[in-house]
Amino acid sequence: MIQMAPSILSADFSRLAEQVKLVEEAGAEVLHIDIMDGHFVPNLTFGPALVKSIRDHSRMRFDVHLMVEEPEKFIADFAAAGADHITFHLETTPHVHRVIQQIKERGMTAGIALNPATPLDGLKYVLGDLDMVLLMTVNPGFGGQKFIPNVVPKIQVLQRHLEQTQSSCLIEVDGGINMETAPVVAKAGAHILVAGAAVFAQPDPQQAVKNIRQAANL
Ligand code: DX5
Ligand code: ZN
Repeated sequence: MIQMAPSILSADFSRLAEQVKLVEEAGAEVLHIDIMDGHFVPNLTFGPALVKSIRDHSRMRFDVHLMVEEPEKFIADFAAAGADHITFHLETTPHVHRVIQQIKERGMTAGIALNPATPLDGLKYVLGDLDMVLLMTVNPGFGGQKFIPNVVPKIQVLQRHLEQTQSSCLIEVDGGINMETAPVVAKAGAHILVAGAAVFAQPDPQQAVKNIRQAANL
């Protein structure tokens, strides 16, 4: 079963609570929240205060995608703000195992994100501890970019490995997901589809959530 994770990066921030409710009513299971620090990625977004401010407006799972250096500094604050899940980038810390433990100790599920050029190899000794792997299908930093098809074989290899090891770890894909690319990543083995511009930059975000899910399930 495909899960839909609209990314608020492309939402209208002046009426964020409304936009969050809209996609929840359309059946989205997960709310994807992009945290950028202007160092690891060339853009800035928001912090724990924003997560806290929308927490009371939604029962969706809050999926926090940390695109920040030294992710270990921010785990406690996002937990307190109401995050259900935190994903950090493999490229951002030498203390990968420690950060996973920090996330889990606070009762959240843990994921690791890989940039398009980062191989799966670095996951080898931590995969058993992970609830999710996020495979970036664009270079992180901005919404509305074009899907990088070279990542598709990486999704397939990871999916096969998870199946062979009977793992319950989920694969999330993020970047350039729309009605055209959703079936491609779903067929390759993705379970959770993040979509920003393809949902919130559309005239009818609710219909967009339904259309992308339907395209993925075909
Ligand atoms: C990009 C972010 C994505 C972004 C995706 O760095 O991690 O979550 O919101 O946006 P779209 O779906 O527009 O490519
Ligand atoms: Zn993201």
